[in-house]
Amino acid sequence: MDVVRIQGGRPLRGEITISGAKNACLPIFAATLLTEEPCVIENVPDLSDVRFMAQILEHLGATVERPDPHTWKFTARTLTTRAPYALVRQMRASVTLLGPLVGRLRRAEVSLPGGCVIGPRPIDLHLKGLEKLGCFIRMEGGYLHLDGSRIRGADIFLGGRQGSTVTGTANLVMAAVLAPGTTRLESAACEPEVDDLCKMLVQMGANIEGIGSHVLTIHGVDRLHGTRYRVIPDRIEAGTWILAAAITRGDVTVRGANAKHLGAFLDKLDQAGLTVLVEGPETLRVRAANLQLRPVDVITLPHPGFPTDLQAQMCALLATAPGLSIITERVYPNRFMHVPELQRMGADIAIEGSSAIIKGKPNLSGAPIMASDLRASAALILAGLYASGETWVQRVYHLDRGYEKFDEKLRGLGASIERMNAKDMPSDLQEGE
Ligand code: EPU
Repeated sequence: MDVVRIQGGRPLRGEITISGAKNACLPIFAATLLTEEPCVIENVPDLSDVRFMAQILEHLGATVERPDPHTWKFTARTLTTRAPYALVRQMRASVTLLGPLVGRLRRAEVSLPGGCVIGPRPIDLHLKGLEKLGCFIRMEGGYLHLDGSRIRGADIFLGGRQGSTVTGTANLVMAAVLAPGTTRLESAACEPEVDDLCKMLVQMGANIEGIGSHVLTIHGVDRLHGTRYRVIPDRIEAGTWILAAAITRGDVTVRGANAKHLGAFLDKLDQAGLTVLVEGPETLRVRAANLQLRPVDVITLPHPGFPTDLQAQMCALLATAPGLSIITERVYPNRFMHVPELQRMGADIAIEGSSAIIKGKPNLSGAPIMASDLRASAALILAGLYASGETWVQRVYHLDRGYEKFDEKLRGLGASIERMNAKDMPSDLQEGE
């Protein structure tokens, strides 16, 4: 297992280019199963989650080629219906196979993914929607068995306690595009990643109205054809680099980002005293050398609200903003695994229900800390870049699931960060059993 060592206190300076969006790629990969013709997907980030998804598609029978590190080609001429636990358990997003398998083959057997450290992640809304489409669903031996021989368009309300569901919307759209009749999805998720999937499906011949809104109308078609599609840039990666520039009081140009995907986030930074300059259609600039941060209140919400996937990183920044900030999680009420680790670095944060009460202060100090999940890993590294002294972050494999070359990109901006095998770190800092 790898660890990273960070020497904090260096402002980041320079340019960075954003990779393609992980959370757009995963359902887009799944959608290539909807046609027997080849689909070429470009601007794919080189991540372990993406490689897992490709492995599952190959297991299901697709021919998988990778003409270059960021382009994948899938040809799903013949397919099997069963996605086994050994593969599915490695990545929750494999639940997005349900929609395309039912859409194309009218049957699916997909293992239920296991637990997740950021809180409960039920799929009741996915299943409710699929049942409304006419699927017969039973659970046996840890597998969901779906019989979709009678699927047809339906009116479906997809809202839940926490609002809409991103992968649930993806699943239902993918099942509905090949279902006879018209499906109306109300309270659909409108995250940019869902729009991206819908746009690719339209390019494949699907008929979808209302893309970008909370109501999607899908008129089923008989078949879809192959396509070549370029995935949108990763808004969460862009937001993470903006926060890294801010926390180190640096000057960073972020290239290949789409400011339109970051509205609530950029607005909140503006309130906190940081104006991110939009220098071109895909260029953002953060000039934070003289930043006087102000405390702010943040509430995470489904898009277009403040994204939960930037909450942990924002928490690290606000831990350094003098005054009282409150972050409330409305998407994953328990997603605060980063807080005890930030506390070990001296941050003053208390959890009250689904809120973090942050008393910002100028000093954090480096410490050995443990990453619990993808976004927590990024947040802890950001805190390490700010802190005085040395920070060791363990279990950074989480980072490789969702950020391409995170430490390498940081080094390019002048950060002092190195990755090494955990066995090579000082023995008194190593994880116990
Ligand atoms: N929910 C239900 N029932 C369902 C589905 C969801 O109650 O059937 C609840 C969840 O428990 C959660 C909320 O609804 O409280 C939102 O969950 P959603 O289904 O939208 O999340 P997801 O589709 O499983 C995707 C991203 C997550 C991101 C969330 C929210 C992918 C592969 N994953 O998950 O990304 O946090 O949307 O925006 O797209 C990450 O990248 O770090 C990550 C966790």
